[in-house]
Amino acid sequence: MAVKPRGTFLRSGKVKDIYKLDEEHLLFYFTDRVSAFDVVLPSTIPRKGEVLCKLSAFWFETLGVPHHMVSTEGPNMMVVNRMTMIPVECVVRGYLYGSLYDRLLKGEVSLPVDRVLAAKLPEPYFDPTTKSEIKDEPITEAEIVSEGRMSQFELDFVKGSTKSIFWRMSQRARDSGFILADLKLEFGRRNGTVLLGDSIGPDEFRMWPADRYAPGRSQDSYDKQPVRDWLTGAGYKEKLDRARKSGEPAPQPPVLPPELISLVSDRYVHIYEVLTGRKL
Ligand SMILES: Nc1ncnc2c1ncn2[C@@H]1O[C@H](COP(=O)(O)OP(=O)(O)O)[C@@H](O)[C@H]1O
Ligand SMILES: [Mg+2]
Repeated sequence: MAVKPRGTFLRSGKVKDIYKLDEEHLLFYFTDRVSAFDVVLPSTIPRKGEVLCKLSAFWFETLGVPHHMVSTEGPNMMVVNRMTMIPVECVVRGYLYGSLYDRLLKGEVSLPVDRVLAAKLPEPYFDPTTKSEIKDEPITEAEIVSEGRMSQFELDFVKGSTKSIFWRMSQRARDSGFILADLKLEFGRRNGTVLLGDSIGPDEFRMWPADRYAPGRSQDSYDKQPVRDWLTGAGYKEKLDRARKSGEPAPQPPVLPPELISLVSDRYVHIYEVLTGRKL
């Protein structure tokens, strides 16, 4: 990307690079990096960073909840108010999928729903986790309060806010032909108030094309599925699983073919345009 970020480099996430502008402000630089099966690939996806930045900005502007965004800069940068992050990932799920499905099968949670993969839950389920560099673990609401992660008052607010954001985003998705399956939000504190933070993009939610939805099997995710499928077909997934089983580091992933890269790039642009009604 042409425009260089400013500020002092703080850290690199899987997708965002974070810079400190001053004591009060951070700059998020959304890169074109892509990961699959939790491995960052050597190829990048043109315009992905721009889509993630502008999609996040769209949600902050339209959700109608207090948030940390100050402005966007260039195609892929966002200035935010620096906050003290609340050490809880606020996950909400509308469908039985991912780790919730696994936990239900293992009897770790009980839910009034048939054990069918991708079944719709009777109502959105607040399913918070800890915020960890290694692996986020489920945490109960009682533990959140007793461990001092949030006061009961903050928890009530954050839970209500998470559910209402999920509801609004679901409606938007439905109008665009998608199902919002689940969502992860992060909140932080600033000057005594709790604000919505971080970013809201395809790494923070699962959206499924509604016309291909069928319970009882894994669902096509609109964005990175072709990358996952290609890596599986190329034998990389198998190699990775074998390495992980024997505790070895992830093997070097292959470079993606140019046709696949442009197909995935087009998908990102497409989802942005249908969800927002804006042209990229
Ligand atoms: N306004 C904010 N102030 C301070 N930290 C923030 C703010 N918004 C988000 N963060 C934190 O910044 C980090 C983003 O990094 P990370 O999630 O690792 O990046 P990526 O999503 O690219 O993997 C998270 O730890 C998140 O909690
Ligand atoms: Mg993140």
